[in-house]
Formats: sequence, C-alpha cells, structure tokens
Amino acid sequence: MSDEKMTAAGQEEARSQILKLVADYCDKYHNKKGPFEEGQRIPYASRVYDSHEMVNLVDSALEFWLTSGRYTDQFEKGLSDYLGVRFCSLVNSGSSANLIAFMALTSPLLGERRVKRGDEVITVAAGFPTTVTPVIQYGAVPVFVDVTIPQYNIDVTKLEEALSDKTKAVMIAHTLGNPYDLGAVKAFCDKHGLWLVEDNCDALGSRYTIDGVTKFTGTIGDIGTSSFYPPHHMTMGEGGAVYTDNALLNKIIRSFRDWGRDCVCPSGRDNLCGHRFDRQYGELPLGYDHKYVYSHFGYNLKATDMQAAVGCAQLEKFPSFVERRKHNFTRLKAGLAGAEDKYILPVPCENSDPSWFGFLITCREGVDRNKVVQYVEGKGVQTRMLFAGNLTKHPCFNEMRESGSGYRVAGALDNTDRIMRDTFWVGVYPGMTDEMIDYMAKVLKEA
Ligand SMILES: Cc1ncc(COP(=O)(O)O)c(C=O)c1O
Repeated sequence: MSDEKMTAAGQEEARSQILKLVADYCDKYHNKKGPFEEGQRIPYASRVYDSHEMVNLVDSALEFWLTSGRYTDQFEKGLSDYLGVRFCSLVNSGSSANLIAFMALTSPLLGERRVKRGDEVITVAAGFPTTVTPVIQYGAVPVFVDVTIPQYNIDVTKLEEALSDKTKAVMIAHTLGNPYDLGAVKAFCDKHGLWLVEDNCDALGSRYTIDGVTKFTGTIGDIGTSSFYPPHHMTMGEGGAVYTDNALLNKIIRSFRDWGRDCVCPSGRDNLCGHRFDRQYGELPLGYDHKYVYSHFGYNLKATDMQAAVGCAQLEKFPSFVERRKHNFTRLKAGLAGAEDKYILPVPCENSDPSWFGFLITCREGVDRNKVVQYVEGKGVQTRMLFAGNLTKHPCFNEMRESGSGYRVAGALDNTDRIMRDTFWVGVYPGMTDEMIDYMAKVLKEA
C-alpha cells in the first residue's frame, strides 16, 4: 500500500473510532430523562435530537471546512426537496432570513417593482419584531393591520383599507404554526401587484390548500423564511433559511447573503461560469475579477457547515416532529374541553393543516392573564407571550410614536391590544409525552 493510501485508511479508521465514541457518549449521557413527575418543569420548547446530530456535528468538525460546505449543500437540497421549492439558501438565523428576504425586494434588478424608501409594507403588530425590523431599518413604512382571535393572524377583511398607492409588499408570519388566510392574502397581492413574503419561522411543516393544491406554507408567496433557533420546529443552534421558486429573487437573495457580490461561485470555488475575467460591470475596467464585483450592498449572513451538519440530521426526523406537534396540540385541546368559558382556545385557519409551534390561549373577560400565567408557571409549566403583543407599544417605537412617522396603523388594533393583555401560550414540542400534555391541561384548568 502506498503511503498516501495508508494515511487515508488510518485517517478513516481514526474518524470512525471518534464518531463511534461520540455516538456512545450521546446515547449514554444525553436524553436521559426518567418518567415524568407532576410539578417537573415542562418547557415551552426544547431540542429533540439523538446521536445522529452529534455525530454529524463532530464529523463536520473533523473535516474542519467550517464555512458553508458539503453539509450546507446537502441541507439546502434536503429542505428544498421537502418543501417542493426550487431554491433554498441557508443563513445564520431566522432574523437574517427575514432581513435578506425583505432586502431582496429592494434590489434594482427588480425594476419598477422594487421596494424603495418610503414605500409601504403591510404587516401585523402581534408577532415577532424581526418580521418588521428590516422594513424600518431600510426606511420603508410598515402598515399594521389588526388580527383575528382565535386564529391570531391578519384580519384579511382589513387588507383593502390598508392599501395605498405606496404599498409594495405584504410581509407577515404564520402565527405559531397557524397559517394565515393565504387564499385571501395571495389574491390581494396578485390583484395589486404586491410581493408576498411569508415569515415561516414558526410554521415549518404547515400546509395550506390553495386553488385545490396543498402546499407547504412559505412556498405560496414569493419568498419564505425559516428559523432553526432551538425552540423552533427543528434546530441547528442558530440558523435560518430563505426559499423561493423565483430564479431572479434567488440570485438576489444569494447576493445579499454573500457580501452583495455578483458572482455565484460557492466558497472556495472559482470561475464556474468561465467568464471571471472577461466582462464589463458598472464603471470597472473591462475584465475586472467577477469574484469582487458587487451588485448590492449586502451582508455576510452565511451559516457554518457545523450548523448545517446538525440540520441535516434534524431534517431526517422532521416529518415525525410535525406529526408529534399535531398530536400534542390535538390532545391538549381535547384536555381543555370544558374550559372554554374561561379560555378562548386556538382554531386552525380554514384550508390549513398546521404544524403547531405552540398552543395559544386568550383569557376571557374576568380572567386575569397574569394570575393564570403565574399559577401555571408555579406548577412547572413554562409559558410565553405572543412575542411582542403589540409591537408598536414597545420602547423601540417610542421615537416613531412620538413623531407620528415611520409607520402607519390601518384601522384599530383592538384584537392586537387584547392579545397583549390577555393571551399567552404553552408548548407542544415533539419531545412532550402524553403525560406532560395531560398534566398541562390539568394545571391550566385548575388555574
Ligand atoms: C415569527 C418569527 N420570525 C423570526 C424569528 C427570528 O428567528 P431567529 O431567532 O432565528 O432570528 C422568530 C424567532 O423566534 C419568529 O418567531
């Protein structure tokens, strides 16, 4: 055997020994929870993983490529295949995914349809801030529309009222896995020539039937986004994805993700198009190295290959996660039967099949949300608010609220305010057992 072959064989042997040890370590020391006991902490969300994730992570570390590489390619292909979309870009968080999705709409490559500063974007205030943050940071104007309870999504009857001659896009999240009325929102966008960005960070695996075809949420609008932060439907620690079927949007998304560059060669590869040194760009000299030509003011929001390696293992388990989330939601809702005089329970959007992120509860008149939450937390059940409640009430809006500029409210935000006051949620993550769900129902009823 040549020295080279011996080294390769030795390296492979060492690698498999290490990975075997890692798998044994994970099996022995992780996921070692005993049977559930009442009063034990039930988090609203948690990672669900086994040795496969850890082995992939270490495998990627041993390779030491570090930046996006083969696991990233595998993950992007795997997620596109799962969702049934043409293009997927891995990024370092859901917030980054939203930033890129929105900034893509500002690209000069979109001509008349590009979002310019001062243009309006219809959204909701009952949600997570970073669905809206990129709009404000760019200098476009979010227009907030109220939501409905118990769907916790945009009230589509208010869409026309929110429209102005500056409206260019709609950008909204599917709240805690419950799709919004995509039929109505998409028809509104098509009618008025608006972009639709689906913040799918809390809804990966949810489906919606539109024009007789069932599709995953995030794939019906122009761009969809995901988050892989640990509480989300699947995790890689930090991570996110931006997906689209539109080749031009994909090119722009990649450019914004990768420093704003024009070239699409992956890290470490050069001259895939064969025209690296023979084109004219902007006012640069003819043949200026295409690798360093910038068509946008972009970022670097790539994830590492170690994150992607964990994501690849999670993706294999993902369909079972979705099923378990649905099971947990259904069981909790059944367990809360009889409590509807105190609580408004969540209802899926028509034509949808949600992959629930959480179980939202709104306290009816006379029921004090804070007392309920404190009781439930005291019994070990972790709760969460619907993120910002009403985003426009937060300190980050102080200046804009005082100056009366920078955003617009279409109509009243009565339900949004009610959510801020009376709503909370508990988890349905796939690691929950039936005993945990039944205990949550019992505690919520006692409260
Ligand atoms: C709807 C929604 N969008 C975006 C994000 C941001 O994701 P990340 O935490 O990965 O930045 C979150 C975070 O939880 C979210 O709930």
